Amino acid sequence: MKRKVYSSFNTLDFLKKDIGRLEGFLKDFTDSIDGVLNLAVSSTLTAGGKRIRPSLLLICARNKHYDIGHLLPAAAAIEIIHTASLIHDDIIDKSILRRGKRTIHDTYDKDTAKFVGDFLFTHTFSLLNSYHNRRILTEMSEAAKCLVKGEFDQLNTKKDIYQDEEVYYKKIDEKTSSLFKVSCVIGGILSGVDEATVQNLRKFGEYVGISFQINDDLIDVDINSTSKEEGKPVGKDFKHGDITLPFIFALQDKKFKNEIEPFIKKSPVSDKELDYILRLIATTDAIERTRKRFFYYMEKAKKTAELIKGTQRRACLLKVCEIIEQRAGLGK
Ligand code: IPE
Ligand code: IPE
Ligand code: MG
Ligand code: MG
Repeated sequence: MKRKVYSSFNTLDFLKKDIGRLEGFLKDFTDSIDGVLNLAVSSTLTAGGKRIRPSLLLICARNKHYDIGHLLPAAAAIEIIHTASLIHDDIIDKSILRRGKRTIHDTYDKDTAKFVGDFLFTHTFSLLNSYHNRRILTEMSEAAKCLVKGEFDQLNTKKDIYQDEEVYYKKIDEKTSSLFKVSCVIGGILSGVDEATVQNLRKFGEYVGISFQINDDLIDVDINSTSKEEGKPVGKDFKHGDITLPFIFALQDKKFKNEIEPFIKKSPVSDKELDYILRLIATTDAIERTRKRFFYYMEKAKKTAELIKGTQRRACLLKVCEIIEQRAGLGK
């Protein structure tokens, strides 16, 4: 299955070769595992994710001493922990498709998926240990903690129609931006940037992460989206009770709220009902308002990128914003 964003990232010339190296590294790791664990890991880890987070790490590490061999364990660690979080997220979301393949809990069972995710989470720290750098381990532990906290808060706010925008931003900052931030920060640390630059990289990761998740939530409500390219089903957020930003906005419309409330209480809605709900949300101003928020955070990311030291690093980070903005077309 061809994925637009992945191929767009390859337009960053140096990444084409180095993401190729990362794929080889992940494949060697997968091949070193036996049995069911091997089959389960290969069905997700090497099934063709967009590799956005490791790309960010490599970009942020870009300087004249750039050494891909040194950076690979960290880039792999980021992709592995991200994949682990998706495996666990798919159990909670009861999602059957990930990266165009059947999810692990659907192919095997929940317990298997839980342990495959745990195995990958743990491996992240083995890889990072090789740097003998306490700061890197601290940054990653904090990020992992935040990610889990965000997923936990999402679980606890399912079907809560009274949550506001602030609650939403806090959750997505934790569950999504945490890994974007740590990717940028570790890239910076491994290339020896000063502390002010580390903090700018963190801010950049925060804004890009927020806009990335806003757009992912837009794609999920778009029946006409080319979301199949993402290898995951449309409408799964509402189906499983997640009130994302488009719904937060749409629920401010009384007519929409009255009509939609019974469906939120009902669980799960049928495919026909889901189709009706997605068509209904498209008649409100929620999609446009959500898109505006996406561009607001994207602008903040670009402004922050301008402050980041290193000509190549800065240019590539601005290119990342451009690529993610092109992806926003999918949420139209
Ligand atoms: C999916 O992340 C989870 C979100 C934060 C929306 P990606 O869209 O980066 O997923 P892959 O890695 O390409 O499969
Ligand atoms: C991101 O949120 C999941 C994690 C950060 C683990 P989503 O639930 O929107 O991701 P998808 O849509 O399932 O990929
Ligand atoms: Mg999900
Ligand atoms: Mg999603």
